[in-house]
Order: sequence, then C-alpha cells, then structure tokens
Amino acid sequence: MCGIVAVTGYKKALPLLMNGLEKLEYRGYDSAGIAIVNSETKNITCNKAEGKLKNLIKNLNDKNMPGTVGIGHTRWATHGKPEIKNAHPHTNSSGTIAVVQNGIIENFQDLKNKLQKEGVIFNSDTDTEVIPHLIQRELNTLSKLNLDKNGSTLLVAVRNVISDLEGSYALAVLWADAPTSLVVARRQAPLIIGLGEGEFICASDTPAIANFTNIILPMEDEEIALLTPLGIEIYDSNNERQYRSPVSLKVSEQIMDKMNFKHYMLKEIYDQPETAKNWLKNYLIKDLENGQYQINYPFDTKFFESIERIEIIACGTSKHAAMVGKFLLEQFSGIPTNVFYASEFRYSPPPLLPNTLTIGVTQSGETADTIAAIDMEIKRRSSKEDKKFTPNLIAITNRKESSIGRQVLNIIDICAGIEVGVAATKTFFGQLLSFYGLAIKFAQIKGTQGSDEIDKLITELIKLPPLIEDLLEQHNESSEKLAHDFFNIKDVIFLGRGINYPIALEGALKLKEISYIHAAGYPAGEMKHGPIALLDKKVPVISIASPGQVFDKVISNAQEAKARDSFMIGIAPECNGTEIFDYLMKIPSSTEWVSPLLNIVPLQLLSYHIAAHRGLDVDQPRNLAKSVTVE
Ligand code: M6R
Repeated sequence: MCGIVAVTGYKKALPLLMNGLEKLEYRGYDSAGIAIVNSETKNITCNKAEGKLKNLIKNLNDKNMPGTVGIGHTRWATHGKPEIKNAHPHTNSSGTIAVVQNGIIENFQDLKNKLQKEGVIFNSDTDTEVIPHLIQRELNTLSKLNLDKNGSTLLVAVRNVISDLEGSYALAVLWADAPTSLVVARRQAPLIIGLGEGEFICASDTPAIANFTNIILPMEDEEIALLTPLGIEIYDSNNERQYRSPVSLKVSEQIMDKMNFKHYMLKEIYDQPETAKNWLKNYLIKDLENGQYQINYPFDTKFFESIERIEIIACGTSKHAAMVGKFLLEQFSGIPTNVFYASEFRYSPPPLLPNTLTIGVTQSGETADTIAAIDMEIKRRSSKEDKKFTPNLIAITNRKESSIGRQVLNIIDICAGIEVGVAATKTFFGQLLSFYGLAIKFAQIKGTQGSDEIDKLITELIKLPPLIEDLLEQHNESSEKLAHDFFNIKDVIFLGRGINYPIALEGALKLKEISYIHAAGYPAGEMKHGPIALLDKKVPVISIASPGQVFDKVISNAQEAKARDSFMIGIAPECNGTEIFDYLMKIPSSTEWVSPLLNIVPLQLLSYHIAAHRGLDVDQPRNLAKSVTVE
C-alpha cells in the first residue's frame, strides 16, 4: 500500500527520500513522487511518475532539486487511476503546500464540494487533494491572527484540518513559508520517526528508516508532530505534548537482503527452517525439574483457564493460518473456535459470548480491517460490566512494533525477520507454529490430551528444521521442472480435507496472487457438489493427501477427479493409494497434526517457479500490497 517518507535536517533530501522510497517498494505501488522545499528561494519542487521508481528517477535526472526538507510517496491507487495527476504529493493551488498521504479520507467528497463552491480548482481524482487546499484555507484564517509563518503555525493549521477528516490517514506536509519544518500526523495508519545523525526521517515502515538510524519513535494513533532539524514536538489528540523515549530497531527489522536468490519470495521460502528454529528457541523451554517441554509465550497465560471459546480475526493468508489454528484448537485442545474474515467481522460480528479469547493474526500488524475489527471487539466487550466479557486478547504478528503491537498487550512475535515478498510464506509458517504453541498450551491447561500425545507433537515440531531443509532441497528443482509444463495453464484446483483444507486454500491463493493463474481450493469432499463440473484434461488438480483420518477419503475424491481426465498431482508421502497421482510431490511421513507445516513447502515452491517462469514480478505482483492499510 502507499508508503510515505519525509525528511528534515542538514543533508540533501533527495537521496534520502529516494533511498527511503526504494525500501518501501515492497509494500506495492503503482506511481511515485517527491516534493522538496528550497529554503533559499522558498519554492517547492514536485516530481511524479507513473509506474515504478525507475520512471521517477529518469525524471529526476533532468531536474535540479536542492533542499534538505522533503516528502516522498509510493501510491497504491484507491481514489483515481494510477496516473500522474493522481500521484502524490498533492499541492494547494499556488504550489506552496505539498502533502503526501496514506489511508482513505472518507468524507473527501463533501469537503471537495465545499471547496469547489469556494472556487478551488482540483487537479486530481484523489481524496488526498482536499488536504492541501484545506490547509491553505486554515493558514489564511490564521494569518488574520498575525501568527508567524513558521512550523508551529503549520502545526496548528494541520491540526485544525485533520479534526475535520473522517477515515484513516498518515500524512506529511511541507509549507514553503516554513521551509525547514515538516508536519506529520497519523490516524489508523502507521508512521514512524527515525532519529538520524543530522536528520529526522519519518516513514510508514521501518525499512525506509533502517539505513539512516536504528533509533525510532513510533507515532501513536491520533498523534501529530512538528519536525525541524532542531528537534521533534509530538502532541496527542488533546493537544497535550508527549514525551517518551525512543526505542531501538531490532536487527531483523533492519535487514533486507536478497542474498543470492533471484527473488525475495524464494529466499523467504528458504528462510523457513530458520523461522522454525527461532520459534523453537524463543517459545519452547524444557522444565528442568520434570524434563517436560513448556510453551513459553511472553505473557501470563493464567487467563487461559477461564477461556471457553476462541474467535480468530484475520485476512488472506493469515486467515488460512487461523483456519489451521481452529482445527488444532478444537481437535487437539477441545476449545470451540471460530475464524472470521476481519472485513466481515467488522460489520456482522457474532453476538457476544462470555469467556472468549480473541486472537488477531496479521503478519504486517497493519491490516486496516484486522486492526479495526480488534478495536471494535475491545470496545464492545469493555462496555459490558460483567467480567466474563472482559476482552482477552492475543495478537500473532511478525511486526511487534506495528499498530497491532500497540493495540494488543499479549503478542506472539513470530520473529521471522522482514518479509519483503508480497506473497506471505515464512510469516505463514511462523503463524502456523504460533497456533501449535497455543494448542499445546491449551491442551496442557485443559487436560484435553495426555502428556504422551503432547510430547509426540512437540517432538515432531523439534524435528522440523532439518525436515524443511530436506523438503526444499528435494522440491526446488523438481517444482521448477513441473512449472515448465504448467506455465501456460489457465485453471488449477487444490483439494484438501480437515487440517489440510486451509493448506489447499493457501496453495491456491499463492498461485493466483503471483502467477495470475486462476486457482481455487476446495474441501475435497465438496467437489462433487459443484466444482467437479469444472474438471477436464486442461484443469490440473493438486490434491493434499496426508495419512490420517481422511486419507482414504481424499484418495477417493482424487479418483473422482482423475476420472474426469484431470492431471493429478499429489502432495503426499509415497504410500499405498498415492499411485493414482500422475505426479507425486513426496512429503516425509508425519502425524496428520504437523502435516500442514510440511505440505505447504512444495506448494509455495511450485507457485514461485510458475510465476518466475512466466517472467512476472514475483515480489511485487500487480494490484497487491504487502500491508493493506486501507479498508
Ligand atoms: O499483514 P496481514 O497478514 O494482515 O495481511 C493479510 C493479507 O493481506 C495477506 O495475507 C495477503 O493475502 C498476502 N498477499 C498473502 O500472500
């Protein structure tokens, strides 16, 4: 989604902004732009381009952009097409105010209508453009009070304007009359200030800052700040000055390195043994007294005892992890669990039930729907006097410092390191592991599984890192070869049952989002109720058949598909029954419980190789964004 970088200090702004924007590319965007104020001439120069940053860089070669204060933006179109006129920064009519924004201004049409009636001419279709015009109007009013033309005046003007905005935003504002100042503000969209040496850099995400400094001040919701080369002033929504200490960026938040891999996605698929090792190291501890393993989540789990049900809120791949979580929490730990799309939960939440644990799952920690749904749940539970409705919350994320990290106290940080590829791979794997930990914890507390069964599961989890390494070695080349045969395919069906049904959904999502091939996942038993009509020899079927309670059923469902001439690919160990597959992606034997952690790996590799073979932008697929910060 849109990314913001803003800088003020003593160094030339242009290279700092461009470097920051490059680091935000992974979020997904379709146009980009920058504006820099020249403190001598008090002029703002803007440059914008459609498409990738290289187009903007081409423009910049022709233009001289001196100045040490500037703002930059990568835009993911919401209001208005990805055209130059809609690219940020947007300015007021005289070009003396420039604004970049992330989020959606929901009442922009009303505001625009009013401004148009006052004679303001708009140059874009965006919601953002109302902001510089409103700031101009506010500055006109303030000028009647004879206030100095400085950053403090700009701060007052921006504060007055944002109080009229509905929706979400992170924004950065330049004013030619206060050429060393920058005003930034946020509501339900992330913004982090980095404290560099001789400059302050403010951005939507830490990678844009990490090259300059590892000292950051994440802005809280509804805060506004004035940044000058001399310092920072932060205010809350009540206009109270805020004082707090900066924090250090973790090393993992600073590293964005493709190593020798062609794409980040492939590197991140290969990071998964490390993700497993990190999880085991962080969260599995051996009790020295009784030799038993315990899950060491970093919060008091006493409240688990009173939990009678669980609701999980997530989007996309995170929802698929949540569905595996539901299976584990219900079937292994005996706790009734429901999974909701965050975007649906917000507008049709289930009736409130007591003693509920709410789990938010989001790798980025910034997904607008997930954040809003959790917020709503906190509010509606807190409004009840009965203690049984107290919000009990856990968030599973890869970005502890994100919005969900500030919203929810109990965090399971999956510690996967920055995931750059838009397609979630290692973070999905880390989310899955987090649910195994929760299932074990609940089974221990509720006594729903004997210690033998729990130990068996833990032993399998401990053995994961080398198993995943083997799977990667075994399947990378073979899936690349298979990709050659598949790269022209139009439709693919993924089948799974039970704990592997969400893996079928995830396999299909991975394929469609990066290769643009239509793919759909189904519970294998549902095929004959409709989707089987799609099958013929042009539609391959990928069937996940892990030994366990539904193995025979999955094989029968695969037989039905084979009888319709589909090319059958099996994700299964080599065993009786799997000979029906035309191609078998062999998986090591395991219990059905841990099979999702193994089955997902060849599916990720296959999707990756198909997309790479089609020559597509694997890490930044069209129309998609890494952090979906708008509703
Ligand atoms: O950051 P989140 O985990 O909340 O993101 C949710 C989805 O936007 C995300 O999983 C999306 O579906 C990915 N592109 C999947 O690869």
